[in-house]
Amino acid sequence: MNYHVLTLFPDMIRQACETSILGRAVKNGTIAVETVNIRDFSANKHNRVDDYPYGGGAGMVMEAEPVYRAVSSVSEKLEKKPRVIYLTPQGRVLNQTMVEEFALEDELVLLCGHYEGIDERVLEEVVTDYVSIGDYVLTGGELGAMVLIDSISRFVPGVLSNEESSQFESLQDNLLEYPHYTRPEIWRDRQVPEVLLSGDHKKIEAWRKEQSILRTKERRPDLLEKSVRVRSLFYGTDLSASLAADLTEALSRYGEVMDFNRKKLRKTRWSFERRELLLFVLDTLDEDFFNVSMKGHQTPVFLITGEGVDPADAERFKEQLTSRRFRMLDTFPMEVLQDKEALKRTAIEMRKQL
Ligand code: ADE
Repeated sequence: MNYHVLTLFPDMIRQACETSILGRAVKNGTIAVETVNIRDFSANKHNRVDDYPYGGGAGMVMEAEPVYRAVSSVSEKLEKKPRVIYLTPQGRVLNQTMVEEFALEDELVLLCGHYEGIDERVLEEVVTDYVSIGDYVLTGGELGAMVLIDSISRFVPGVLSNEESSQFESLQDNLLEYPHYTRPEIWRDRQVPEVLLSGDHKKIEAWRKEQSILRTKERRPDLLEKSVRVRSLFYGTDLSASLAADLTEALSRYGEVMDFNRKKLRKTRWSFERRELLLFVLDTLDEDFFNVSMKGHQTPVFLITGEGVDPADAERFKEQLTSRRFRMLDTFPMEVLQDKEALKRTAIEMRKQL
C-alpha cells in the first residue's frame, strides 16, 4: 500500500510513521508513506497557501490552486486515478468496513486541511471520499490521516506478524472483543475465569462469544443493534459448499454453514429472525429446494447462484423469499467469487448493504 499524504505539516506524519508496527512496515516495504507539502505548490511568491474567506468571518481558508497542484503532482505519477480522501468532520464517520474497503486499494491520497477548511471548488474537483474520524473537531486533518494509515495498514498483508494479527476481527461482527487475561492466575485476589484454564476449546470459544455479546450490550448497545448472525445455506455441488464456507468466514467469526443437500434440513420448517443474515449459495435450484418451508421476519438475504441455476428459477425464488417476508438485498453470480480478492470485495459489499 502506498499512502500519499498532502499536508502543511509533513513532519507530523513522518514522525508518527517511524515507530512501532508502522515503522517496521515502512522499513520492510509493505507500506510506503510519501508526504507532500502543500506549501511547495503555492502560487504565491511568499509561499502563502491561505487567504481571507469571501463573505467575511473568522479564520483563513486554504486556496484551491496549491491543493490542486499538490494532488495533481501525485496522481500524474500513478497509472490509475487514485481515491482522494479528505479528512473532515463533515465526512462519513470511519468504521471497520470502510477501513477494510480502503485496504483493497494500492494507492491512497490523504488530504489534510487546516485553518477553517479548503476552498470548496477544489474539493469538488479532486475529492472522492470525505472521511471523519469522529464527531469532534481537530486542528487539522493530520491525526485523522494517521488514524486511517494505522487502521488500514493492519489489513495490508505482511504488516502484522502471525501473533499480532487476529484472523477474525470482532468488530466485523459489530461486537466488541471478549476480555483477555495472562499470568498470574491470581492477581490481587482476582482469579482468571475458570473456563479459560479448562483446556476445553469449544467451551472457551462459547464463553468468549457470550462475553463479546454481553460486553457489547453493556458498553455499545448501538453496535449490537447492527450485528447479525450470519447463516449460509448451500445446495448443490462441492463448489457451493466451499464458497458458502469461505464467504461465511469472510463475513463473521461466528457464522454457520448449513448443507441443504441433507434431506433432514430440507424437511425442517425454518423460521429466521430479523437479526440474522442469510446467504443462499446455490448451484442447483429444483422443486425439492423450492418446497423447503421457510419464513423470515424481514431477514436480510443475499443470493449467490451458480451456472446450473436457470435465471428464471432464480427470479421465482427471489419472489418466493420476498412473499415469505425475507428482505432480498442483492444477487451475485458464483463465477465472480473465484479468487480470494473477489470474495473479500463481495463480503465488504454485503456488509455495506446491511
Ligand atoms: N479534521 C478536523 N476534525 C476532523 C475529524 N473529526 N475527522 C477528520 N478530520 C478532521
